[in-house]
Order: sequence, then C-alpha cells, then structure tokens
Amino acid sequence: MSYDGLKNPDRNDPCWCGSGRKYKKCHYETDKRLELLWDAGEEVMPRDLYKNAEDIAGIKASAAVNTGILDYVGEHIAAGVSTMDINNWVNDYLAAHDAISADLNFEGYPYSVCTSINEVVCHGFPNEADVLKDGDIINVDMSTIKGGYFSDSSRMYCIGDVDPEWKRLVEVCHESVQAGLAAVKPWGHLGDVGAAVQKVAVDAGFSVVREYGGHGIGREFHEDPFVSFVAEAGTGPILVPGLCFTIEPMVNMGTAAITTDEANGWIVRTADGKPSAQWEVQLVVTEDGYELLSW
Ligand code: MF3
Ligand code: CO
Repeated sequence: MSYDGLKNPDRNDPCWCGSGRKYKKCHYETDKRLELLWDAGEEVMPRDLYKNAEDIAGIKASAAVNTGILDYVGEHIAAGVSTMDINNWVNDYLAAHDAISADLNFEGYPYSVCTSINEVVCHGFPNEADVLKDGDIINVDMSTIKGGYFSDSSRMYCIGDVDPEWKRLVEVCHESVQAGLAAVKPWGHLGDVGAAVQKVAVDAGFSVVREYGGHGIGREFHEDPFVSFVAEAGTGPILVPGLCFTIEPMVNMGTAAITTDEANGWIVRTADGKPSAQWEVQLVVTEDGYELLSW
C-alpha cells in the first residue's frame, strides 16, 4: 500500500502517470518521498491529481481560449456595455475557437460567464439591465472546456474613473494573488499559498471571504484540493509537481461576511454592501516552482 492506497508499479514497468517512461525513471523517487511524508503525518493528494505532459498541453490549449476571451473583454469593456453583451462576446469567441463554457449548466448555472459588479462577490448573472457605468469595478470569471480539459481564470476591470479606495482594493487583491504564486514551491504546503494571499489582503486592511476558494482543475472543473485563502503556512496538502490548481481570493473592503441571493441561489454579495474584488489564475506545480496556465 502507498500514500493513496494504490499499488506502485514494478520498477521496470511503465509509470502510473502515463508518461510512457519506466516507473524507476519517472515517479519512483517522487513516490518514495511522498511515502515518507505520508508516514510522518503529512497530507498527500492522490496520484490521479498529478498532471503529465499530455494533460498540461491539453490544459494549455483550453487556457489559450480562456485568456483570449479575457483579453478580448479587456479591449472592449467600457461604460455603456451590459453584462449580457459580455456573455454574448464569450459565446461568439467560444464558438469561433471550438470550445464551450464550463460555467453553462454547471450545477444549473444558466450563463456562459460570471460577471460580478461592485458588491457582487462572485457568480453574478449576465443581464441586459446591468449596464456598466463610470466608477464600477467588475470581475469577469471565465471557464472553458476544450479537448476535454478545463481552464479557469478571472480578472477585474475598472470602468472609467474609479474611487481611489476601490482601485486600491482591486490592486491589493491582484498583489495577493502574486504573493500566493510566489509561495508555490514544490514540496512546500498548500497552506503557504493561502497564508501569503491572506497576509497581503489583511495587512492592507481588507478581509478575505472564507466560504469560497480555489480548487484543483484538469479533466474536471473542480477537483481536489480545496484552496483556502484563510490558511496557515506549513499546513495542508504537499505541493507535488504536477498538481494543478487555481488561486482566486475574493477580497472585501468591509466585512468578510457574504449573502447568497435567495431568488436564484447563485449571486453572492457582501453582507455590508461594500465592494469586493477577485482575480483568478490557474497554475501547475513544477520541479522548480510553478507554471502559469491561465490568467
Ligand atoms: N469560475 C468559478 C471558479 O472560479 C466557478 C463558477 S461556477 C458557475 O471556480 F457555475 F457559477 F459558473
Ligand atoms: Co475557479
């Protein structure tokens, strides 16, 4: 038995990861190391979460569409645009790139993208009536399926002249994601990432939403592990090369408390009505750090 209950291949047999290489030349050393960590009481994710080169190539092809959409949004978003216009751009772009939205019909979600303005924390519904105006901040959260692989990232867009404190919220949230990325070290802990994100947000006087976090991603939209941004360094799963996940903190100007719209069960807002920001990136842990896959 092993750290995930599966039987390891014989040294000269093909590696379990599907690389085609012999086990002894591939994940043999990794598994030995994980076994020791597991014996020492560390949290170790099961091997089916560790992506091989083929998986990474598939995710990158999906992510090229995802980032292309967010670039397109950045070039066209402005006061006077409705969030339904954004949903329409997304549908056109996906159709032109042989891809589909991962959001549409996900657990019944009715649109192709999430558009979350000001006090909307996440899962905002595109709507013809929601026309962007000067001073708004909006998160556009895009998730794509292409060739069986998922990609997921989101960006903030500032519309026209935004209040300096709101702008600071957007910038601090972005910095918190960068700090999280800098904390991604192979053989470190996932909690190192969450703690780094949280520190930037809290030191700036903002709060971090606890109920939502990042997630593993690959052939499924939401895989293990859950990535909390209210975490302690040195805790949580080991960051094994091949682990692919998102960093996507929701940072609030006021209270961390949130409410979910009872009419639709989706739209999440800050409890105090103050603004919230979110940026999301998708990465894979590598032998010497990480590789950004979607942003
Ligand atoms: N894109 C979100 C995430 O970052 C998930 C949205 S699910 C949806 O994980 F159904 F609301 F689209
Ligand atoms: Co996500």
